[in-house]
Amino acid sequence: MVRSVFHSHSSPYSFILPTPPPSKGLEIIAPHVESLCSLLRNRVYVPKAPSIFDHKVEEYLKNLSDPVLHHIETHGATETLLGGDAPPYLRCLASLAFNLSQFFPGACQDFAVDEYQQSVALHPQKGLPRTRIRSAKRHQIAVVTKCTQTIISQMRSDSIERIVDMGAGHSHLSANFGEKLGLPILAIDRDSDLLRTSKKLYSDIPNLSWHQACIGTPREDVQIGTNDMLVGLHACGSLGDQLIEKAVQSGVSAVFLVSCCLQKLRPALPFRYPLSDVVVQDKQLLKLLKTERRLLGVTNRSRNASQTSTQGRVTRYALRKLLGDHGLHFKHGDEVHGLSRHAFKHGLKYVSEKIAEIHQINLRLSEEEAGERMEAAAVDYRAVRALSVPRAVAGEILEMAIVLDRAARLEEQFHTVRTMRVWPESVSVRNQAIAAWN
Ligand SMILES: C[S@@+](CC[C@H](N)C(=O)[O-])C[C@H]1O[C@@H](n2cnc3c(N)ncnc32)[C@H](O)[C@@H]1O
Repeated sequence: MVRSVFHSHSSPYSFILPTPPPSKGLEIIAPHVESLCSLLRNRVYVPKAPSIFDHKVEEYLKNLSDPVLHHIETHGATETLLGGDAPPYLRCLASLAFNLSQFFPGACQDFAVDEYQQSVALHPQKGLPRTRIRSAKRHQIAVVTKCTQTIISQMRSDSIERIVDMGAGHSHLSANFGEKLGLPILAIDRDSDLLRTSKKLYSDIPNLSWHQACIGTPREDVQIGTNDMLVGLHACGSLGDQLIEKAVQSGVSAVFLVSCCLQKLRPALPFRYPLSDVVVQDKQLLKLLKTERRLLGVTNRSRNASQTSTQGRVTRYALRKLLGDHGLHFKHGDEVHGLSRHAFKHGLKYVSEKIAEIHQINLRLSEEEAGERMEAAAVDYRAVRALSVPRAVAGEILEMAIVLDRAARLEEQFHTVRTMRVWPESVSVRNQAIAAWN
């Protein structure tokens, strides 16, 4: 049985738990790189097992019941694959994911997340909420503020003179920092519209300022110093890597980063380039971690799989088959261009009519034909879902490996480096964080 990685601790100092060095985690992955790369490259599009699966693996996966598949899509596959009678290939994959998850213990959860709501979220004069912020985002802001406070409390009092929020978005986190931490806060984002809205929302916070810059591009003019702490909450794609590189190159005092959508690389970057020496010097690890954008997409999973979203995916599968039967073959994903995600809620007949309009083709379907096509698609898509389980586990391993690579780069310069999960997946599946300080 897989143990929960969430612990409860009352002391603020145990908020960030000790973890083994990230480079050790990367060493655990090295012997499995070939197998992980084959899984990541073999995306399952049709109800046919990739040749890397033997018949036992195929049979086991195809026999997973609907509730078990749903559980896997909601909570990950590790528990199911380790707890049951999975073939050795799948058990080995799940053990690797489990062993790596030990590098990401849960940060302390027992404090009032709503303390955020009591303060900066309310306008000081009017006492009303400044804007509507999702409860999941409020939770994240409260946790990241707590983690940042914890890191600062571990350091000499004069080591941090400013906090830089990289990819600040609407600056809700920066504003909370401004109020709670009593330090100058610089909120940076590349998006001028977001910064304009941020200023409207939080211009009354005296120690908060803004700067527009696209971090990591040649024109970026951000000056970072040794007494800065760099923070990124859901710093997506390349920004996470840029934050780490900036931290190392500028010799900052501390870092706190929660990674986000890894596939959002800048268009100029076909690959994500590894950062740490341990990866750069290991041919095997390099194969996995010099990762193509296409493969990074596998980590873009959702943990709120519902009946509705599964039905939407079946409809999409049925649409693709329908288009194929009419001789219209699209690159995967391109078949839905022009349709919103919500369109799929309305069923195959509706989306096929929309696509017919977009491409000026005749795709007329009767209700009956649409129903038959959906029935066939449901059977085929179920097999696709089941056969995709190992690749999803490989995707989770890749995601942890990238965070460990970032953390291992910090290990080269920082005295203390910790990796953790900062909130349960019900708050956000993007919950892997790195803390580093000197
Ligand atoms: C996922 S949002 C997170 C926003 C905010 N930190 C939060 O958690 O609500 C990522 C933000 O990073 C900004 N961003 C992405 N890449 C950037 C870069 N290279 N330089 C500056 N900002 C960037 C985007 O404009 C976006 O506002």
